[in-house]
Amino acid sequence: MTTIPVALGDRSYDVVIEAGLLARAAEYLAPLARGRPLAIVTDENVRPHLATLQAALDAASVASEAIVLPPGEATKSWGQLEALTDRLLALGVERNDHVIALGGGVIGDLVGFACAILKRGCRFVQVPTTLLAQVDSSVGGKTAINSRAGKNLIGAFHQPVLVLIDPDTLDTLPARQVRAGYAEVVKYGLIDDPDFFAWCETNGAKLLAGDAEARAYAIAHSVAAKARIVAEDERETSGKRALLNLGHTFGHALEAEAGFSDKLLHGEAVAAGMALAFGYSAAQGFAAPEDAAKVAHHLAASGLPIDIASAGISTPGQTLTAHMLHDKKMEGGALPFLLARGIGQTYLDRQVDLASIAAFLDSTRVAA
Ligand SMILES: NC(=O)c1ccc[n+]([C@@H]2O[C@H](COP(=O)([O-])OP(=O)(O)OC[C@H]3O[C@@H](n4cnc5c(N)ncnc54)[C@H](O)[C@@H]3O)[C@@H](O)[C@H]2O)c1
Ligand SMILES: [Zn+2]
Repeated sequence: MTTIPVALGDRSYDVVIEAGLLARAAEYLAPLARGRPLAIVTDENVRPHLATLQAALDAASVASEAIVLPPGEATKSWGQLEALTDRLLALGVERNDHVIALGGGVIGDLVGFACAILKRGCRFVQVPTTLLAQVDSSVGGKTAINSRAGKNLIGAFHQPVLVLIDPDTLDTLPARQVRAGYAEVVKYGLIDDPDFFAWCETNGAKLLAGDAEARAYAIAHSVAAKARIVAEDERETSGKRALLNLGHTFGHALEAEAGFSDKLLHGEAVAAGMALAFGYSAAQGFAAPEDAAKVAHHLAASGLPIDIASAGISTPGQTLTAHMLHDKKMEGGALPFLLARGIGQTYLDRQVDLASIAAFLDSTRVAA
């Protein structure tokens, strides 16, 4: 078992990682339930894990009520938020009660936001069941729903009181979803940890094949990296937390172009975005071309997209920078970009000219 503390003063909490943890979750949840029923929110695809969790709670005489939502990004909506808060209120959830978010980033983000506003804030526990949620979205307290104007535009910072990660839940996750989550794992190496990137190069294939040891190591290492960054900059004010957005500006533009559909999963867009960020950094002479090539090679070898080819756009420069103008990170008309001086040397550049990004994107299309 690995326990990683997230040090945030009176909002501190632990992330507990252990294979088979779901079946032992009552040990952690019974004290939080304090004799009252626990509400568990999940989605249809996570039902097998809901059954494991509820059986564990039953065995410990902890009553639970499941709320099962439809799967998919569309669930992060005003409509589902309203329906969920109504259900939680009808169940009599109080501010000191704990709601359990069992699922991927969609469930974690929606439930976290519902708990941020329910009775001006109730407690919640993240039990992430996708690799992306285990290494990224369940830790750090960002919660959100989508609006007509874009993704994650309505939300709050609201930290969970506990995160329980059972890597065995990934056994039922489709391989494509595992690969997409793996892009965020590689991200931690690229940000500031070249040794971890080297670990990924050696062990990534094993992890993707379901090797339990590689999986547990990567999850713990990623959570520790995220916990360290979040503890330094909880609300993304100093620029440190912004490093977690490596590949995300290019990625969001690609996702927007794909209509935030299953054509391109978030992690896939991030993989292409990281390869593009390194490609652009190399093209500008900031990073060595060999580093950009190594990044692209490892992501491609992991079955992830590394360019804009999959987006099938005839004028990528114009099309993608038009999406970037709507990025929520725009500051006074400029868009801060994460660039790299090398592997493990990511930095925030506030001077990037979108016209040079457009020219670079057009050049990658010609080369492709
Ligand atoms: N809050 C944050 O810091 C943060 C960070 C990154 C991403 N996000 C958000 O996370 C969301 C993406 O998360 P995601 O990739 O986990 O997507 P997701 O929650 O949609 O899960 C992906 C798919 O896997 C299914 N699933 C979940 N667990 C499963 C399991 N164990 N076995 C089988 N199927 C399972 C889901 O039903 C869904 O179909 C996006 O909305 C994104 O904006 C938030
Ligand atoms: Zn991401």
